[in-house]
Amino acid sequence: MSTYHREFRRSIEQPATFWAEQARRLPWFTPPTTILEYDEAGHARWFVDGELNICHAALDHHVEQGRGDQPAIFWDSPVTAAKRVITYAELRDQVAGFAGALKGLGVAKGDRVVIYMPMVPEALVAMYACARLGAVHSVVFGGFAPHELAVRIEDAEPRVVVAASCGVEVDRVLPYKPIIDAAIEQSRYKPEACVVLQRDQHRAELGPIDHDWTALVEKAEPADCVPVRGSDPLYVLYTSGTTGKPKGVVRDTAGYAVALHYSMETIYDMAPGEVFFSASDVGWVVGHSYIVYAPLLRGCTTVVYEGKPVKTPDAGAFWRLIAEYRVKSFFTAPTAFRAIKKEDPDGKLLGQHDISCLKALFLAGERLDPPTFHWLDDLLDVPVIDHWWQTETGWPIAANLQGLEPMPTRAGSATVPVPGFDVQILDREGELAAAMEQGSVVIKQPLPPGCLVGVWRDPQRFHSAYMAAFPGYYLTGDGGYFDEDGYLFIMGRTDDVINIAGHRLSTGEMEEVVGAHPAVAECAVIGIHDALKGQLPVGLVIPKDGFDGDEVALEEALIALVREKIGPIACFKQVLVVDRLPKTRSGKILRKLLRSIADGKEYGVPSTIDDPASLQDVHEAMKARSVGAAHDARQV
Ligand code: COA
Ligand code: AMP
Repeated sequence: MSTYHREFRRSIEQPATFWAEQARRLPWFTPPTTILEYDEAGHARWFVDGELNICHAALDHHVEQGRGDQPAIFWDSPVTAAKRVITYAELRDQVAGFAGALKGLGVAKGDRVVIYMPMVPEALVAMYACARLGAVHSVVFGGFAPHELAVRIEDAEPRVVVAASCGVEVDRVLPYKPIIDAAIEQSRYKPEACVVLQRDQHRAELGPIDHDWTALVEKAEPADCVPVRGSDPLYVLYTSGTTGKPKGVVRDTAGYAVALHYSMETIYDMAPGEVFFSASDVGWVVGHSYIVYAPLLRGCTTVVYEGKPVKTPDAGAFWRLIAEYRVKSFFTAPTAFRAIKKEDPDGKLLGQHDISCLKALFLAGERLDPPTFHWLDDLLDVPVIDHWWQTETGWPIAANLQGLEPMPTRAGSATVPVPGFDVQILDREGELAAAMEQGSVVIKQPLPPGCLVGVWRDPQRFHSAYMAAFPGYYLTGDGGYFDEDGYLFIMGRTDDVINIAGHRLSTGEMEEVVGAHPAVAECAVIGIHDALKGQLPVGLVIPKDGFDGDEVALEEALIALVREKIGPIACFKQVLVVDRLPKTRSGKILRKLLRSIADGKEYGVPSTIDDPASLQDVHEAMKARSVGAAHDARQV
């Protein structure tokens, strides 16, 4: 039996023993005596009675062990022409100082703090400062509009909001304060204070509840790490579900720390002192896990990049960063490489940089499509690894484990389940699917450490969204199959979640926004294939009786509405006004069929359709407006 199979089997057959061994490698204040227990609903809880603090484990502990002078952060910001190196000792001191500032504002263990910041080191300082106090952070991605921020503030009820005065995109400075003010205005719950990091690119005007970051820290006493129980929440991270209300994924402290530490060694093959670069954003789970927490838990240096894969200044940006900071493992979303490939198809810019330090390239956030895989595989001399995970799991479910037993890669496959994740494929009846047979990808309970422990203040939703479909299993929401050799292929979501440029969004949520417009009688938003961003949303709307007929004005209004309510990252830029939508006789819009047409596939007319002519109408409308590849679609 191979090393991987032995380790995997042990993790499934003896989970408590397996994870107890991993837990011993972290610095606890009080080691856990209970490794695994189940709550009343049968969900796994890890290390509940242990006491630790993830900020202590990631910063203070390393300083105490002699790592104080090692860089913890390489910050690189081409959009502001700035760079900074922050050592472990400096970062610990900055975090202790900011934790003191938060404490001065009344933030204590269990309180929530919403963080709305771009990719600046202070975003990490704010997250660690919350962890230091035992407070629960909830980071919101900067591309979300005030309404989305308001929804999260209302749900998380933060005592304090921490923000920067602005974000900086390729071609413009985005003031954040008006977004925060509008969100607080819209939210029924009002935070007590807002701390603003003033940036030179745009200074915010401060109001009655606002505090200047620097001034606040200057008068604060540094705060120490507060011991928390293993099961205490570290953060709530909102992610798109199938409805308009995002789900607040709750992460515990100890299980997460243990899992991340294990993954750094086993999946990413990272040793203390080495440099890890994850080109994501702190607003996403990849940022939480592999920019902020995992690299520092492992004693590595993390690269924090405020820039894009292209245009800052060119498609060689990643290669430059890898070479400059001697990055060993690099992680980003496939869409970033599709953008690079578009601008530098022969990879000429790579030749300008010495990336001999790079040992592996990891991709996730969406499926690594085979053309992008082959392009990268031909270009680079290192393994190109697709690995699969989700906000809910917090770390990879399937990967090619570079630190355990590297395996040959297969285009389109995320390789094999990571130890701890008992991945299975079930058919509609809940029976195990055979090899090569596609079905629902599920994870048999218990979920390993690090995965979500609930939906914030909504146990019912946790149960209905993830646990109810197949009792005893966690429903991932993805479809896929195992091949005959046990390689796992993840083929896409089985629900309304779509993936735009590696960002997870909900078509259901967009439908709610579009459907709320006074001129709209009915609508459908579908995710269609896009060569650069993976998927893009397209809206199909039926206007109400009495509509004035100005389709262009309505389409523009709906595009503006989604941008205003959800934000620019929804990339909602195409709407079609139609007379009718294809539905079943029971009134269900045939979205899958609409997607097939937009993606240029062959499609049949289902026997359950209410009005077959509606299908033809929509197809013609899509062709006329050049939606996706609708002109290639054929009715069979
Ligand atoms: N704050 C504010 N606005 C933001 C933002 C942020 N942090 N990030 C993106 N936006 C805006 C963009 O400016 C753009 O606005 P526009 O419609 O006015 O042009 C819009 O949101 C869409 O952004 P995006 O989808 O990122 O498109 P893009 O054309 O700017 O860039 C890529 C395309 C592929 C370069 C970019 O999407 C990318 O780097 N993707 C990688 C994603 C990633 O790392 N995901 C993490 C998962 S691992
Ligand atoms: P998020 O929660 O934003 O990380 O998005 C998670 C979803 O992105 C998953 O449920 C998948 O649908 C998709 N996804 C992420 N990584 C991969 C991958 N490597 N292969 C296929 N799909 C992926």
